[in-house]
Amino acid sequence: MDVNKIREDFPILSLTLPNGKKLVYLDNAATTQKPVQVVRKIFEVYRESYANIHRSGHYLAQKASRIFEEVREKASKFINASDPNEVIFVWNTTHGINLIAIPLLELSKKKGKKEVLISTMEHHSNMLPWRRAASLLGLDVKYIPVNADGTLNYDSLEQLISKNTAVVALTHASNVTGVVNDVKRVARLAHENEAFIVIDGAQYAPHARVDVKEIDADFYVFSGHKMLAPEGTGVLYGRKEILRQLNPLITGGGTIKDVTLDDVVYLEPPHRYEAGTPNIAGVAGLGEAIDYLKRVGLDNILNHEKILLGKALKRSAELEKIIVYGPKTIDKRLGIFSFNFRGLNPHIAGQILNEDYGIAVRTGLHCAHPYHYALGANEGTVRASFYLYNTIEEIDYLMDSLVNMERTILKT
Ligand code: ALA
Repeated sequence: MDVNKIREDFPILSLTLPNGKKLVYLDNAATTQKPVQVVRKIFEVYRESYANIHRSGHYLAQKASRIFEEVREKASKFINASDPNEVIFVWNTTHGINLIAIPLLELSKKKGKKEVLISTMEHHSNMLPWRRAASLLGLDVKYIPVNADGTLNYDSLEQLISKNTAVVALTHASNVTGVVNDVKRVARLAHENEAFIVIDGAQYAPHARVDVKEIDADFYVFSGHKMLAPEGTGVLYGRKEILRQLNPLITGGGTIKDVTLDDVVYLEPPHRYEAGTPNIAGVAGLGEAIDYLKRVGLDNILNHEKILLGKALKRSAELEKIIVYGPKTIDKRLGIFSFNFRGLNPHIAGQILNEDYGIAVRTGLHCAHPYHYALGANEGTVRASFYLYNTIEEIDYLMDSLVNMERTILKT
């Protein structure tokens, strides 16, 4: 994997900031930059292939519909789904989870289910929609705790899960610590209890191979913008037989076979879940991003990011005042390095990294408040998150900058 060659596809990474510092972009868990191939594809769609899809029979409408459906096929292969019709295009992970939370709990309630299990390490997007749906439908919410190092407490999960469990909502990888959950094991447990497993793949799918069949996932959701594609695109994978049983939450144009004033007959999935005009050009860009990631190879990307993480973890030993969150080894973790300096607010640390060193990180509670509280980081953390275009030199520069900060600002 030639990182310098990859960087040529991302002109934004060569930016010099107004303060004269060279940009070092380490905020990839928030969103990733887009390669020229993706930008070009979107431009091409608007220039030569744009019309609304699945509505009209004219040349451009057919062409745009074909492009859109080809991406559905690509996305289904990307996660090894059995059928492209198990892929629903959504705006992002948050949208995807909101789209199914109420329908899935409605169905579960009919089966006599009483509880939703959510892990404490969830991003709010895989926590709040379930809480809202559970409160609307009168189900309880239970939380799977985490261990001191931020990993999931599987023993507690085994105690909490039961035949009353409707859904287990779990992230594949944490957006704070990069901890990777054993989703296959949890799916097995869920199914033994006749519960659904919904996996938030927003942080995992951009960085490693996903096989929904191997996991035995009922639902798997991820966002385009965290994997080189435009924002406003994402995928909600759902098992065919479940998708057919659910009543869509958002209805409207494009979802129905027939409507009379008294009745409505929905289209088969995925269309019954894709109300309104979708992000047509964006989805084309998502297809291009999938091609890009596959060309580089997900295994190579994961391996590269682990090398970067290993470097950051190793060099953190040079810092006396640093607290690093998550396990201290690269196993079962993705390239996310969250830390604090004892005695320094994370927002101030992030501001110094930006202003004095040109390093872009995210600071705060990263839409995962309960997880931060469980980790004892009540003010949040500083998060450096890596991707395929980050270099080992950038990680060294980050760690040199932290060493320098500790020597200067935190010397007393
Ligand atoms: N979920 C995104 C993050 O972790 C926005 O930063």
